[in-house]
Amino acid sequence: KPMRLWGGRFESGPADALARLSVSVHFDWRLVPYDLAASRAHARVLNRADLLTGDELARMLGAIDDLEAACKSGEFRPTVADEDVHTALERGLLERLGSLGGKLRAGRSRNDQIATDLRLYLRDHVRLIVSRLVELETALMEQAAAHAETPAPGMTHLQHAQPVSFGHQLLAHVHAFARDIDRLRDWDRRAAVSPLGSGALAGSSLPLDPVAVAEELGFSSAAPNSMDAVADRDFAAEFLFDAAMVGVHLSRLGEEIVLWASQEFRWIEMDDAYSTGSSIMPQKKNPDVAELARGKSGRLIGNLMTLLTTLKGLPLTYNRDLQEDKEPVFDSIDTLLLVLPAMAGLVATMRVNVDKLASTASDGFALATDLAELLVRRGVPFREAHEAVGHLVVYCQVNDVDLHELSDDEMLKVSPHLTADVRDVLDVAGAMAARKAFGGTAPDRVRDQLAALRETVDDQ
Ligand code: ARG
Repeated sequence: KPMRLWGGRFESGPADALARLSVSVHFDWRLVPYDLAASRAHARVLNRADLLTGDELARMLGAIDDLEAACKSGEFRPTVADEDVHTALERGLLERLGSLGGKLRAGRSRNDQIATDLRLYLRDHVRLIVSRLVELETALMEQAAAHAETPAPGMTHLQHAQPVSFGHQLLAHVHAFARDIDRLRDWDRRAAVSPLGSGALAGSSLPLDPVAVAEELGFSSAAPNSMDAVADRDFAAEFLFDAAMVGVHLSRLGEEIVLWASQEFRWIEMDDAYSTGSSIMPQKKNPDVAELARGKSGRLIGNLMTLLTTLKGLPLTYNRDLQEDKEPVFDSIDTLLLVLPAMAGLVATMRVNVDKLASTASDGFALATDLAELLVRRGVPFREAHEAVGHLVVYCQVNDVDLHELSDDEMLKVSPHLTADVRDVLDVAGAMAARKAFGGTAPDRVRDQLAALRETVDDQ
């Protein structure tokens, strides 16, 4: 028989089909420490309201501690009859305290309890995710520090565009993750509102103290509207967006690493510890970490859609649909806590093939823009410069030579602007160093960027 919290007005128990549909304890059990923390705060408030004597409070807190230990050791476990984490834990208190255990429910509803538990759980786990993001940033920054001077083929449309510092490219990913961390910190500010004291929807006629409870639970304020407090899941949806954005960033980095590790690129070699083999092809070394990062971003995006879709038609206040908020949130937390350390390890241990990067950085006539910009500095209108260099590229393609292999005569024949000394800019290191304005790829600017990023990470 399921343990119910509403026996009084019902003649029969729930049908099996309802009980099976209703149960959430198999996924909300992870809220135990948060539910018990909220119970401690509530017990103290009941005591201050003279609804629990000092002795009762002491026994209540003792039983809560005992129950927490029993949950941790696995000695107390939910049974098939417990509907949700709140039901199971009330059973645990009743087992320890007899009828005193039933006093804790005064002034409280599962509606304000679950909203409180989920906020507490999320605030705690978002801190863990931020730490894992910082580790990934650190791995990227260490590689970037080692490769500030390493030229790489910079690409747009996956076509060679202009040479860049490989460190610059790695730091581009760090900026994305830094924005994610910023978003999560900002999220916490809005999530730090306590629903406890809102009861089912209208607050309580008992002299509770939601502001004191909020403070005890580490929230920065108590919800100013009890109806909003039990209905609101913005904090969950917003977290799921932030998690999905992290997922998208992981996916884009993952996709780059898959390319870099391919035979066609050969920009990096993955460490054995972070790559996988094939059951049939003995030579294979596969980028599964990067692929799973890319793949799992799908579920992070899906979880956001799941919750938004659940919320969109709900009237105020609590509706049972809201029980569907937890699985997507838990899944996004679990997914990020799995993917982030693996990606950090992959990045930290990958070996960068400097020779391959340097020797291909100017392939595909990637210095053509430098030639055109040199002509501009000499007063040639960019439109003409662009056209002259374009002709030169075609000449090179037809004759199967690179820009720097042309003779003085060949260049002059294409355009009178292309005098022998323009060859000076056909140099990868020079091309990188020349992009030295703020935000550019010059190795000096990359080192400045790195120093600034390190400061923000140290603040975390
Ligand atoms: N288990 C529910 C949830 O996860 C909380 C219980 C509220 N149920 C209710 N019938 N008022 O949202």
